[in-house]
Amino acid sequence: MSEKLPEIRVRTKISQDELEKKVGKIITDKDVTFVATNKCRVLKPNGDLLFVYIPKAIPKDLLELSYPVLHSIQDVTDNRGLASGSPRAKRIGSRQARAKGVKSSIIGNIDKMGGRFPYCRTTAWTGKHADEFESIFPLFEHLASVFEKYVPDRYNIQKRRAIATEKEWIIGNTPYSTITVNNTYPTGVHKDVGDLHEGFSNLMCMRRGDYSGGILTFPEFRVGANLQDGDLLLMDAHEWHGNTQMTLHSEDAERISLVLYYRTNMIACGTPEEEIENAKKTVSPSFQPEDPKPSDFVTTEFNGRHDPRGGIKIDLK
Ligand SMILES: [Fe+2]
Repeated sequence: MSEKLPEIRVRTKISQDELEKKVGKIITDKDVTFVATNKCRVLKPNGDLLFVYIPKAIPKDLLELSYPVLHSIQDVTDNRGLASGSPRAKRIGSRQARAKGVKSSIIGNIDKMGGRFPYCRTTAWTGKHADEFESIFPLFEHLASVFEKYVPDRYNIQKRRAIATEKEWIIGNTPYSTITVNNTYPTGVHKDVGDLHEGFSNLMCMRRGDYSGGILTFPEFRVGANLQDGDLLLMDAHEWHGNTQMTLHSEDAERISLVLYYRTNMIACGTPEEEIENAKKTVSPSFQPEDPKPSDFVTTEFNGRHDPRGGIKIDLK
């Protein structure tokens, strides 16, 4: 039985014109009227579920176990500063400027994309760090159990789809095929693409050091949640969403967010061996899987709509 939570029903939406101006941009505190701070369910004006916010959903021991692995994933993407589209952020009260890279990686599995990747595959980081990845399956399995408890209808649809998928493409005993890991990266307003429509996205957060902002917001409805360390948001990622600007107040300020989901097309994937064989037949007999570069995965699920420009300020007085 799902627990009875306080329920908030959003009454109005902002106009389409107003919304369109926000797409791709980092939203501001002025775009949010209600920020959830306690456990609750938030419904859209039509009564559909927008999100369930579950503070402290993850036990401390699982957070401690998982942090070193999840923290290390940012090393996959170079901190390329300006090259990654991020501006130089000026320290307040200082003439110095420093760049902050975009750190967004995909771990787990991904379906065929054509081009250099005409086959379903395990992402670069996952292939190279199989043991580390498996060592944090208890975290993913715990998140799946919370998802099942609070949004059982969507969980059941997604889980059934996962069971019907080749088991190599599913992460442990969960309904997830794929996880996006963002590190201290406020996302511009976007909708997710590629994940199962009838399923539900799971967003968890880990925090270190001192920062403010980064509030996950649904600007159309002017609602959001300020995720703390170990919090979980079960959310409709097919509604417009993004983070408010972040201000980093300490050198070690860090916000790791994980988005866990099932990619719709994974159902059509064969076994890993069949996928390579099939690519040889359809592309060329000499086809060899290529080692993907981190940039092959960065923001692909977001349809190019992420724009972290202006999203991070560094205040280290
Ligand atoms: Fe998203």
